[in-house]
Order: sequence, then structure tokens, then C-alpha cells
Amino acid sequence: MTQSASETWSVRIVVPETSSLDAAGETFDLEVREDETILAAARSAGVWLPADCQQGWCTTCAARLVDGDVAHPNARRYYDEDREAGFVLPCTAKPRADTTLIVGQYDDFLEFRADHGRPPGSSKLDT
Ligand code: FES
Repeated sequence: MTQSASETWSVRIVVPETSSLDAAGETFDLEVREDETILAAARSAGVWLPADCQQGWCTTCAARLVDGDVAHPNARRYYDEDREAGFVLPCTAKPRADTTLIVGQYDDFLEFRADHGRPPGSSKLDT
């Protein structure tokens, strides 16, 4: 089915039980327009997710894609291998299908980036 620019998608946000976030163990279901970021939609709904730069640069917001699809049209630093490994950056990720994300993946993403020689992996891990 073709979706218009104003279409919305169902986005499920899962916060792992082991997360240090206040919402550990909770799941949130949002309706997100495909022209808005998942982070912005979550914050509008009162769901606090970690973020810093909000430009797809720092990786603080890193999450894992469980199912669905997102686009990162405005991310400043997002690589093909990030997508292939299922990492997403909710601060710049816009849904392109009904989608489920596991948030709070910053540490794993730093390791992944470091393993692939990509920033900010090694620089953050070494400090
Ligand atoms: S908040 Fe910096 S990459 Fe998402």
C-alpha cells in the first residue's frame, strides 16, 4: 500500500528491564507521522528517551530495530552497516512502516561502531 507524507505508523518502544532508564521494563505504543522523528513523537507523548545532539551524530539515543522500517534522512552520521546491523537513531529516525524499537542501546552501539572503526566508538570507550 502506498502511504502519503502525512501517514502515521504505529511505533512500539520497548525499554529493557535491565536498562538504567526510569522506564525500565515498560513498553510504549505511539502513533508517529512519517515526517516526524520517533524521539520527537515520544517526547510529545510524555515518554522520556535518552538523547543529546538530536542530529544523528552522538549516538546517545541508539536503539535496535526489532521489526518495521525507519529512514534517517537528516542523520549527520549514520552508516550502511548500522542499518544492516539493525541499529537506529530515534532522534532522526522517521517511521516507514509499523515499527518496534528497543531503546537504551548506547553501550552496544559504541562497541559496534568501535569494532567497525567508526566514530564515536573508540573515543568514547577509551575515556
Ligand atoms: S541524540 Fe545524538 S544521535 Fe541521537
